[in-house]
Amino acid sequence: MLPSSDQNEILKRRTFAIISHPDAGKTTLTEKLLLYGGAIHVAGAVKSNKIRKTATSDWMEIEKQRGISVATSVMGFDYAGHHINILDTPGHQDFAEDTFRTLTAVDSAIVVIDSAKGVETQTRRLMEVCRMRKTPVMVFMNKMDREGKDPFDLMDEAEKELGIHCTPVTWANGQGLKFESVFALNNRPAELSEKLQEDLEMIDGVYPEFDKEAYLRGDLAPVFFGSAYKTIGVQELLDFLVANAPSPLPVTAEERTVEPMEDKFTAFCFKIHANMDPNHRSCIAFFKICSGKFLRNTYYYHVRKDQQMRFAAPTCFMAQKKETVDEAFAGDVVGLPDTGNFKIGDTLTAGEKLHFKGLPSFSPEMFKYIDNADPMRQKQLEKGINQLMDEGVAQLFVSQLNGRKIIGTVGQLQFEVIQYRLEHEYQAKCRWQPLQMYKACWIESDDDAELDTFKKRKAQYMATDKEGRDVFMADSAYVLSMAQQDYKHITFHFTSEF
Ligand code: G4P
Repeated sequence: MLPSSDQNEILKRRTFAIISHPDAGKTTLTEKLLLYGGAIHVAGAVKSNKIRKTATSDWMEIEKQRGISVATSVMGFDYAGHHINILDTPGHQDFAEDTFRTLTAVDSAIVVIDSAKGVETQTRRLMEVCRMRKTPVMVFMNKMDREGKDPFDLMDEAEKELGIHCTPVTWANGQGLKFESVFALNNRPAELSEKLQEDLEMIDGVYPEFDKEAYLRGDLAPVFFGSAYKTIGVQELLDFLVANAPSPLPVTAEERTVEPMEDKFTAFCFKIHANMDPNHRSCIAFFKICSGKFLRNTYYYHVRKDQQMRFAAPTCFMAQKKETVDEAFAGDVVGLPDTGNFKIGDTLTAGEKLHFKGLPSFSPEMFKYIDNADPMRQKQLEKGINQLMDEGVAQLFVSQLNGRKIIGTVGQLQFEVIQYRLEHEYQAKCRWQPLQMYKACWIESDDDAELDTFKKRKAQYMATDKEGRDVFMADSAYVLSMAQQDYKHITFHFTSEF
C-alpha cells in the first residue's frame, strides 16, 4: 500500500468529463468551474475546443482548433481541498470515437442538457457509453434563464431518454426572464410562492431522496438546475460533486482488478494527440493513472513492447497550462511525449504484465477502400496507415475476399484527415473508393460449425480487424437482420470489446 500522504492525494482526486450535445453549454460550464477553482480569473479565458459550425467543411481549420484542445484536454485545478481533473471531449460528432475513449478514463461525468432543447442525439449516444460502463453521472439542466421546457418534463425526458433514474438536488426559482436563483432542496427558502409550494409538494411526492450508493452504481442521477452563462447553480453542482463524486475507482485489467491505492504504478493510454505542426512531428500520449504514483525519469514497463522506458518531460495539465511534472497520482492524466511508441490501449506498469480492458471500438459508420496512389511509396503508405490506426484516427479492416484494405470512420472528416496526414507526414498518396456498407459486426459463437458455415457463405462480406478478429461487413440493415435470423448461434457485436 502507498504511504498515507499519497493515499490522501488520491482520495482528493475527482476526475470527470462533461458531456453534452454541441451548444448545450459545456464550454461555458467548464469555464465557470475553472473560475471557482481560481484556475482562471476572467470569463472568456477558455478557448472553446468547440469546432465552429462555419468551419466544418474546412478540416485544416478544425485541426488548428483541435490543436488548442491539447491545452484543454485535461483541466486540473484545486477546489475546497480537492484536486479536480476535467477531461475535455470534442464536441464535433465526427470525433465521437475520441469522446468514447475519453469516457473510459473518467470516474464520473456531468451531463449538460439545454433546458429549451431537452435531450439531444449526441447526449443520448454518450450516455449509452456511460451506462455500459456504469459511470456515475450528474445532470445539469442549463439555460434556465431562457424560456424552456417545464422542469418536471425535463426530468421525465432525461429518465426516459437517458435510461437512468433522476432525482432533483436543487430547484429553480423561476424560469426564463423570471429565473433568479436556485436553492438546495434540503435547504428550502422560508417564503415560497404558490407555484414553488406546488412544485415542492410534487417533488416530495414523486422523487426519492438522493441515494449516494445508487448514484455510485450508476443507477441514479442527481439533477441540478441553473445557468452556466449567468453563473447560477454552478457552485451547488461543484460542491455536490466534490462531496459525492467518486475518487479514483478500481480498474479492471484482463489479469485482475487494480486498486488505486496499490503502491505500484499502472496506467493506460486512452488518447494520442498528434502535433499538426510538420516541424515537430511528435505526439502526446495521454495516460490515465490507475494506481500508485508516477515519477518523472523513472523506468516503467511498456507491456506490449516488453520494454523499459522512462520519461524526462511528462506533462500534467493545470487549468490551461501544460507543465512538466515530477509526480502524479492515480486519477491524474499524464501526457507523455511520444514518437510512435504508443498506441491506444497500451499499458505502463512497474513491471507487471497487465492489460487494461474496456477500450471499445465501435462499429464505424462510413467505409472506403484505401488504395495506393504512388507505387514507389507503398512502404510509407503502410507505415502511415498503421500509425494513424494506432492513434485511433479510424479503423482498418482487410477484406478476406480480395485482401484490400478498408478504412472505417464515424465521419467524412476523418478520410480527409487521413489523406492529408499521409501526404504530409509520410509522403504517401492514397486514393479512396466508396464502399456501400452499413455496419461492421464482430462475430462470435460457441457453435464452431455454424460459425464456419457462416464464414464460408458470407466470404465476400468477411474481413479481419487489426487484431485479426473476424468481422462481418453487412451492406444493409436488412442483410444484417437476415443474418441474425438465420444464424441464431452467432452473436453479432457492434463494439469490439466483449
Ligand atoms: P458547448 O461548449 O456545449 O458547445 O456550448 P457553449 O458553452 O459554447 O455555449 C453555446 C452557446 O450557449 C453560447 O452562445 C453560450 O453563451 C450559450 N450559453 C451557455 N450557457 C448558457 C446559459 O446558461 N444561458 C444562456 N442564455 N446561454 C447560454 P453563443 O452565442 O453561441 O456564443 P457566445 O457568443 O455567447 O460565446
